[in-house]
Amino acid sequence: MSAEDVLAAQGGEYAALVRWWARMRATNPVSYDPELGNWHVFRYADATRIIGDHETFSSDLRSSVRQPEQFAIVARGAFNGFDPPEHTKLRGLVRGALTPRLIAGLAPRIAEIADELLDALAGRDRIELVADLAYPLPLIVIAELLDIPLADRHRFRAWADALFFQGRGDEPVIVATEEMLLSVEPLIGEMNAYFLEHIRYRRGHPGHDLISKLVAVEENGFRLSDEEVLGVCGFLLVAGHITTTLVLGNAVHLLATRPEIAARLRADPGLVPDAVEEVLRFRGQLPATPRRTTREVTVGGARIPAGEVVLVWLASANRDERQFAAADRFDLRRTPNRHLGFGRGIHFCIGSSLARLEQHIALRAVLRRWPEFAVADGAVAEDARKAIGFRTLPLTVSWADRPLTAPRK
Ligand code: HEM
Repeated sequence: MSAEDVLAAQGGEYAALVRWWARMRATNPVSYDPELGNWHVFRYADATRIIGDHETFSSDLRSSVRQPEQFAIVARGAFNGFDPPEHTKLRGLVRGALTPRLIAGLAPRIAEIADELLDALAGRDRIELVADLAYPLPLIVIAELLDIPLADRHRFRAWADALFFQGRGDEPVIVATEEMLLSVEPLIGEMNAYFLEHIRYRRGHPGHDLISKLVAVEENGFRLSDEEVLGVCGFLLVAGHITTTLVLGNAVHLLATRPEIAARLRADPGLVPDAVEEVLRFRGQLPATPRRTTREVTVGGARIPAGEVVLVWLASANRDERQFAAADRFDLRRTPNRHLGFGRGIHFCIGSSLARLEQHIALRAVLRRWPEFAVADGAVAEDARKAIGFRTLPLTVSWADRPLTAPRK
């Protein structure tokens, strides 16, 4: 398989990518790509084995490319790209700050934000889901958690895009080259300076926010340096909203195109968590995650030498018919649903409970407020090789007369 084949099959288009995964799962489940210079893995069993074995499959790809100065600074706290013991230390500290109690306590505020955003649209028969709800909701939540002024939020998107897409543009590469990183380095420099200012202030003036907690948190005698706190903040800003925005857009799109499922959920909102798990399986936002082999290893009958980059297609694994019956069907009652939408193993998503809470609250609010909604012209999708979801999702909606606010428990 050449890079050209991959491009022809994928072209960044989601439907083509889904067909390509199906073909590769059947015929070439673990394959080397000579032009991209990496391996691809498509089946569920191989994917779970790889992301569950951090000793053989490292997440640390920092040696693949020289990182420009500002990226190198932020990378010090981006522990998704670390292995133990460095990973264990940082993850433990962040978990200590992002406690289940803190997350659970956010529910009323998230519901309030969702209601306020929907109130601001009330009566309009055409809205743009991403700009009007799916983007601002998680952004306001994470900005309030970090206690950074919302007035600065116009700057966050550019920073988050720079960190998430790393200047890769239309290129089908997995690990951005130094040149690509340099193209967005000034934005990262701007973000770093912004966060460092907030972090230094919180050292002298601690509050109840996440930055103050990250600054103060201590485990086994370890504390985070300013640059580690900065890296964690930058990473949380990206992980905490781009992902949630995309999944919420996917959820609303799936329901808009399956009104019978939306009606079932309206009749029984208790099914919303099942629907969210199925969205994460069927159309989660992360297509793939890279690992590097630390030794020679055989996966799915293929021998992979040490030091190779392996691209684990989580979204393909989630469609593997060997694991999920009728995998290409969106099934509200799928049990069990052991999808890989939040990963697996030591890098399992640290924000999964916050992400689930946001999805549940937002979907319930949408279903309550809109008796009908449909996709309108003008939707723009992301390049599905890098992120599955919508950049713009126009909808036509009708509004319920009542209730205007969520019944509070
Ligand atoms: C629906 C939304 C989300 C999805 C689908 C998602 C998905 C994922 C996945 C698949 C991974 C594992 C990646 C890998 O193994 O290479 C991951 C890791 C991570 N996620 Fe999320 N995520 C979401 C929301 C969030 C939120 C809201 C936060 C933070 C507030 C967050 C923070 C993180 C962090 C810090 C990691 C790295 C964990 C580690 O390496 O130990 N995520 N996420």
